[in-house]
Amino acid sequence: MNTLVLVLIAIAVAFLLKSAYSFFSRISNVWKALGKVPGPYAHWLTGTYIGTLETFIPAHSKLCEKYQDMFPMFYNVANFQLCISNPILLKQFLKPSISKETIIHSFFEEWVGPGILQANGPQWSRNRRLLTPAFHFDVLKSYMKVFNECADILINKWVDKAKDGKPIEILDDMSLCAFDAIIRCTCSTELNTQTHGSRHQFLIACRENTYLGESRIFNLFHHSSFLYKLSQNGRKFHRNVAYCRQFARDIILRRKAELDSQEDNENKKHYDFLDIMLKAKDSDGTGMSVDEIVHEVITFLFAGHDTTSTSLSWLLFSLACNPQCQRQCQEEIRKVTEDRNDIRWDDLSALSYTTLCVKESQRLHTTVPFIGRTLGEETTVNGYTFPKGMDLELPIYHYHHDSRWWKNPWDFDPSRFTPDNSQDRDPFCYLPFAVGTRNCIGQNFALQELKAIAAKILQRFELSTDNPTYQHIPAGVLKNKGGIYLTLKDRK
Ligand code: HEM
Repeated sequence: MNTLVLVLIAIAVAFLLKSAYSFFSRISNVWKALGKVPGPYAHWLTGTYIGTLETFIPAHSKLCEKYQDMFPMFYNVANFQLCISNPILLKQFLKPSISKETIIHSFFEEWVGPGILQANGPQWSRNRRLLTPAFHFDVLKSYMKVFNECADILINKWVDKAKDGKPIEILDDMSLCAFDAIIRCTCSTELNTQTHGSRHQFLIACRENTYLGESRIFNLFHHSSFLYKLSQNGRKFHRNVAYCRQFARDIILRRKAELDSQEDNENKKHYDFLDIMLKAKDSDGTGMSVDEIVHEVITFLFAGHDTTSTSLSWLLFSLACNPQCQRQCQEEIRKVTEDRNDIRWDDLSALSYTTLCVKESQRLHTTVPFIGRTLGEETTVNGYTFPKGMDLELPIYHYHHDSRWWKNPWDFDPSRFTPDNSQDRDPFCYLPFAVGTRNCIGQNFALQELKAIAAKILQRFELSTDNPTYQHIPAGVLKNKGGIYLTLKDRK
């Protein structure tokens, strides 16, 4: 073996040892810090919780009730976090240096790439700054037409389906509607998936990968990307990744060609978010590469349809279970719209009772039940010091059901959100769109879409259910075991 090869091997071994050393010293610092905080028993291999996603929420809620400020949550030997069960304490952890580097973020990054949802540091701040103008109110106003048209297609489908009076599963149809809306608003692309007979492959891929990504946390062998790729689930996950990337790339290249051929596109009133990225230039004149834009497109299509369709479905379910609230919304919508069919921008702010119902439904059926963060600096809270690099678990679901802040937390009571009833409540108790610098960039878009589509559905249908029970499952967003079924009666 010649000297050069020996030197290269020595460098590789030194590099591996250094990486292993920094990995283990980070883990051991976190272990030491977490070991001091009182919490539940954890087996060294299987951790605190042995079970599946289906049974996770009740088990986790019990822990939050027992350890009311914070406690260590060990998922297994390589994944442990500090769960902040008291939202008021959260304020002390949320410093500007906070990031998203938990294991679950790394799983999702393998799919959506380092887009705005998963990226950190300068890459995240550059893209957030670049994309924020795409959510300005002037831009959002122009989306009312899209929301009305997408809701009309959904309603026509439901008029047909509801004829026999049997309950229908609403989430699947709702997600096609939300997908058509987000892809039209953000990428100026019309797919009309609602009118196609079968479910679009992108939506199948999103649903499968969300479930696979969340489940991966419970299997230690699947934490390694290499081993995961060899497994059956890993192969399915990566087939979906390849499909999503190609799908996004096709949309981008088509839109790029359209923009290049439009001579007067400088006069266009506003650009959607894809146009903004295609035209963006850094100070040195370079723009975003197609690969970078692919990550953002997947992120927005995924984050922008799964959340809103889930939230809308739970809202309709809540109103079906509470006919008195439903009637009050319908009466308000009738007065505001004066029986016109289309919902206009100015109507949305006048729908005050409906807005209370949206907020209460997002509390009771928390759309994004858990999120994670990583400490960017050493932080001391309640006398405990935690090292940089330690992962935090933020159980938003628990914040929304904690009886310390919510009287009768399992009741649907929109009046909790009137200004009088909200004034003494700390805003950190209610975080449907997260909080801090990494809050939801699409929250105004989402609320606008939710109210517009819900108003149109309530104009047309009487909603009811013969099964008001539910089992919440945290599959990225909050699902119901078995789907969400409603009976729809045409009011016309
Ligand atoms: C009811 C609907 C929605 C809910 C409940 C919701 C909730 C959230 C939450 C909780 C986060 C923080 C996630 C985390 O920290 O891991 C988030 C982030 C984000 N959301 Fe939403 N979202 C909704 C709709 C939307 C829509 C319609 C879009 C796009 C049009 C969108 C785009 C994003 C993006 C890009 C981020 C990452 C922001 C960043 O890290 O800078 N969301 N959302």
